[in-house]
Amino acid sequence: MTQRVLLIIGGGIAAYKSLDLIRRLRERGATVRVVLTRAAQEFVTPLAAGALSNERVFTDLFDLDDEREIGHIRLARDTDLIILAPATADLLAKMATGQANDLATAVLLATDKPVLAAPAMNPRMWSHPATRRNVHQLEADGIAFVGPNAGEMAERGEAGVGRMSEATEIAEAAAQLLAGLAPSKTGPLAGRHVLVTSGPTHEPIDPVRYIANRSSGKQGHAIAAAAASAGARVTLVSGPVTLNDPPGVTVIKVQTAAEMLSTVEAALPADIAIFAAAVADWRVAAAAGQKMKKTSDSAAPTLTLAVNPDILKSIAKRTPRRPALVIGFAAETDAVIPHAQKKRKDKAADWIVANDVSPATGTFGGDWNTVHLVTADGVTSWPPQSKDDVARRLIEQAAAWLAANQTEV
Ligand SMILES: Cc1cc2nc3c(=O)[nH]c(=O)nc-3n(C[C@H](O)[C@H](O)[C@H](O)COP(=O)(O)O)c2cc1C
Repeated sequence: MTQRVLLIIGGGIAAYKSLDLIRRLRERGATVRVVLTRAAQEFVTPLAAGALSNERVFTDLFDLDDEREIGHIRLARDTDLIILAPATADLLAKMATGQANDLATAVLLATDKPVLAAPAMNPRMWSHPATRRNVHQLEADGIAFVGPNAGEMAERGEAGVGRMSEATEIAEAAAQLLAGLAPSKTGPLAGRHVLVTSGPTHEPIDPVRYIANRSSGKQGHAIAAAAASAGARVTLVSGPVTLNDPPGVTVIKVQTAAEMLSTVEAALPADIAIFAAAVADWRVAAAAGQKMKKTSDSAAPTLTLAVNPDILKSIAKRTPRRPALVIGFAAETDAVIPHAQKKRKDKAADWIVANDVSPATGTFGGDWNTVHLVTADGVTSWPPQSKDDVARRLIEQAAAWLAANQTEV
């Protein structure tokens, strides 16, 4: 790597790792200029960054000497790559909205060079809808991301996705970007393809009416996001929902169970398939081509239903291209565990995540879920937790299962 890198260090605990990153980048032959945000200087000093980079360090947009010598526009352009590490929640938000009220953000807005962001923050900050939106926007704007990884946080007792990638991982992702490649993802599911279904299906009665259910898609979307954070390539086949697309996930939108099945088939092969969608069991056998009219005598029409394809069963029972791990969801309102155990066997699924969706639980549409994981080895009941936490735990267990069984598609 004989290129020039501009490293912008944000104000997070992980800033100390960015000092190591300067060394790693220089070891690979890059020249490194450093910009420190005001908050970053609470964690690392310009002196340390300057000593390690062997270059002067930039901290202030309104520094007359700096502006005369190089200026923020040249700083943004006289480089081959900008690395933002740690990319704080604050910097991501400012970038996503095009703010430029300090040197770091002015440089990021003025640059025409590739930008690699290494986020680092508390898991709650990372999973907050505002950060999700910002990351999604930045990915759409062409910003590349490395990490964050899962693990222990600096704060005692906090764990989850939010740790900044290690300096060597960031340097490797930088080298790939400089070589014109999209950085390969890191994490326990790197190199794996995870297929997820989410949301309800809409089965038409006529062009304006449909049969649906109360699924919000929150659980399935959270699983897709968790799989992407774990480094997987993720395809999310979603029924009609009002949620934002999770960042870094390929989302294919469908309406009906039949469309969902053909889309899922087309997305194979996959290492893991997780069927969290609440697929309608029945559709109207012959949906009307025109809006059905209320007749003058107000006689109610009779709808004849037909059985929909069983997506979980068809994928779990197929022999060519069966995903190594097939996970179904069972939404039940009574005898939750026995029904889930029967469903696991009948449908040849490996695991069933059983949840009680009786109205009193608030599961449908809510942010919390109480689930039981049913496998061939037995049943584990998880404590009530957010759908994001259920998603992360499920993905962690699926990744561990895959690593132990080492199957490649
Ligand atoms: C001890 C401490 C640690 C922090 N760690 C982080 C962090 O890891 N990630 C983050 O996004 N913000 C963190 N913050 C909050 C940021 O420092 C704060 O949002 C600041 O305005 C960020 O400024 P910057 O984005 O311009 O660097 C931390 C704050 C403190 C006091």
